[in-house]
Amino acid sequence: MYNFTYYAPTKVIFGKKTEDQIADVIQSYGFHKVLVHFGSGSVKRSGLLDKVLSKLDAAGIKHVELGGVVPNPRLSLIRKGIEIARKEKVDLILAVGGGSVIDSAKGIGYGATNPGDVWDFYSKKRVAQACLPIGVILTLAATGSEMSSSSVVTNEDGWLKMGTNSNLSRPVFAIMNPELTMTLPDYQTACGCTDIIMHTVERWFTQGDTMEITDAIAASVIQTVMKMARILKDNPADYDARAEVMWAGSLSHNDLTGCGASSRGDWAVHGMEHEIGGLFDVAHGAGLAAIWGTWARYVMDSDLLRFVKYSTNVLGLSRDCSDRELALKGIKVMEDFFHEIKMPISIPELGIKPTDDQLVMMAHKCIEAGGGQKGAARILHEPDVLAIYREANR
Ligand code: NZQ
Ligand code: ZN
Repeated sequence: MYNFTYYAPTKVIFGKKTEDQIADVIQSYGFHKVLVHFGSGSVKRSGLLDKVLSKLDAAGIKHVELGGVVPNPRLSLIRKGIEIARKEKVDLILAVGGGSVIDSAKGIGYGATNPGDVWDFYSKKRVAQACLPIGVILTLAATGSEMSSSSVVTNEDGWLKMGTNSNLSRPVFAIMNPELTMTLPDYQTACGCTDIIMHTVERWFTQGDTMEITDAIAASVIQTVMKMARILKDNPADYDARAEVMWAGSLSHNDLTGCGASSRGDWAVHGMEHEIGGLFDVAHGAGLAAIWGTWARYVMDSDLLRFVKYSTNVLGLSRDCSDRELALKGIKVMEDFFHEIKMPISIPELGIKPTDDQLVMMAHKCIEAGGGQKGAARILHEPDVLAIYREANR
């Protein structure tokens, strides 16, 4: 097992009606003024926003609001939020929503506490030195942003979707009531399950095979989410399945499923998806499913041991064929699963058809964002990424 540092400082308050505790939680930290940040309407329609604001009012907690976050959250709204946060001297940003709202809140948190242009942190020009505290009331189990160090933002100037990572932005608390996810469209639930699975899958495919405890946790996270995604497809109101998926979402992206690995994971599929999401505004989870199988077939020979172990330990396939055949069988099982929960397994199945010029540009931007290369299972350069995009675009 390789050396690692595990840092998961977020206080998790999990279960039915836990959003009722919001005022007490905020007061326990001594925060005085809150920027309540939310998306494009779901929290208004569900009544969650009104409930939260009335709890803050009843407790005498001052607040300002900024809604309008869209999926693949935009830099322009973050800039607006930074102005508000500075002018109103807020000391907590409360993100009420899914990953896009949380990531937008983190962007505001960076911009309000560091001088200069907040985009510098996403374009890797500078490293953030501070972030306003972030609190979360989660409404969508997917990204794990409620415990993660990441924020992924789309800059409308060039439609660049880029991420920045810092422990400074890990939320101080996350309120997670699985009931709040029951208003999700089935498609978003499936996208969320896919993203959760992918966060552990990305960490699984490294070079090296030295962490049995982490592999066992990882296998369990993936198996559980696959099982629950199937249950939710037929019964979206199943509380226990919602709860399992919500907790799995946090565990899958708070670094637990990568402890002791030889690198922080592969992440090439995420890098490739971010280009698709930035340009075509597709749902993140669906974008991952659309390219994962093609990526896997492209890289598997460079990391066969881990692919075989994925097929046996995660998917439970028996060793009755060659290693290569077993790896291919595992990839097919994953693609069949994606289809079963109505996820795409190719770019056209996402409902888009990029031109070859667009694929060339995406491959270039993807590698540029990765500092010249991507991946760990196999190191990918620009021609590799382009080949994967082309194959997935057939
Ligand atoms: O905006 P509203 O009206 O709230 O609608 C949202 C949005 O349309 C809706 N929604 C959320 N909760 C709902 C609901 N609708 C009904 N009932 C509810 N309870 O769902 C839609 C998608 O929301 P979004 O927040 O965009 O989804 P998700 O949580 O999947 O976040 C995706 C974003 O996070 C990034 C992705 O790239 C993408 O930009 N990621 C962030 C990560 C991180 N910070 O750690 C890691 C991930 O790998 C990912 O890259
Ligand atoms: Zn993701």
